[in-house]
Amino acid sequence: MSNEMSGDALLQLVREDLRGFAGYASARTYDVKGEVWLNANESPWANPADANGSSRRYPEPQPPALREALARLYDCRPEQLLVGRGSDEAIDLLVRALCVPGRDAIVATPPVFGMYSVSARLQGAPLLAVPLVDGEAGFGVDLEAVAIAAEQGNAKLVFLCSPSNPTGGSVPLDGIAALATRLHGRALVVVDEAYGEFSDQPSATTLMETHANVAVLRTLSKAHALAAARIGTLIAEPALVRVLRACKAPYPVPTPCAELAVAGLSDEALARTRARVAQVRSERSRLQQGLATLPGVVRVYPSDGNYLLVRFADAGDAFARLLAAGVVVRDQRAAAQLGDALRITIGSPEQNDRVLAALVAKEAAA
Ligand SMILES: Cc1ncc(COP(=O)(O)O)c(C=O)c1O
Repeated sequence: MSNEMSGDALLQLVREDLRGFAGYASARTYDVKGEVWLNANESPWANPADANGSSRRYPEPQPPALREALARLYDCRPEQLLVGRGSDEAIDLLVRALCVPGRDAIVATPPVFGMYSVSARLQGAPLLAVPLVDGEAGFGVDLEAVAIAAEQGNAKLVFLCSPSNPTGGSVPLDGIAALATRLHGRALVVVDEAYGEFSDQPSATTLMETHANVAVLRTLSKAHALAAARIGTLIAEPALVRVLRACKAPYPVPTPCAELAVAGLSDEALARTRARVAQVRSERSRLQQGLATLPGVVRVYPSDGNYLLVRFADAGDAFARLLAAGVVVRDQRAAAQLGDALRITIGSPEQNDRVLAALVAKEAAA
């Protein structure tokens, strides 16, 4: 299938009323040259707090140096990227651009990251929930049930989280490919790889050449340690990226954040990121083993992310013990299937020791 043809098929998934939408034409949209910029009502002088003077003017809508650094990082072309305020913004944009309120649904696989259903709710898009299946190898996606739900429920978007938050498992690439083939012309399969750096599985971007209806979400918030910069990336077919760019906020990436992110993606910074990821992975094994030996722990799920999902005999008590030791973890008890579970982010070796000590102390005290 030529790229042009696959792009055309994909555009059929976009809301009819947005297919030719040009969006807001900001002062930065026009490709003109000049020396004196008096077209955006900016200040001619910098704020004294703005040391390098880069914040006086509005940013580029998609800062080119950042896009190029991200294209290198994710091994794709700059025109496949949409950079925004965290991957949260890309999730929201996808739902808004593809789903007609009250008609077009999204599929999500609870227990899973909550923003897919929040964005659907805000857009008035029906949510089709296909629960994860708790098996011997951990929680997994029932891809057949996902396909049926999408086909029967008029879904435009299927969100697969891989590695999945909070359950930790990855969705096999061959399963994603088969789902995308089955939903071709019907739905976009969005693979959220916020935790991809911590996993051994190759990125679903490797499927995009043959499956135009696969899109991938990445973020600098986790492995790259830049959560406050709010840099998230959607990687998708360029035709879809062009439509989403028209729908996005005019300047979603503040200049100080773009500068920080470009510096955080230098060769030297990336080498440090790889070292941090290796340490998280080794701490993940150590914490997993340490927790598994505690009698109050019912199950520690295998994880490809930087967190562990743990079932306790008394999760409320474990949460309180950790809190009393100054350790805050994520209480999952309100989530479907997780009434006895906590999600523990992998910390530094000292922080992980503190987790184990707090829970061991419980056993000693009991
Ligand atoms: C699975 C998943 N996707 C996306 C995000 C949002 O990340 P960002 O900081 O890029 O908005 C998170 C944040 O926790 C997440 O767990």
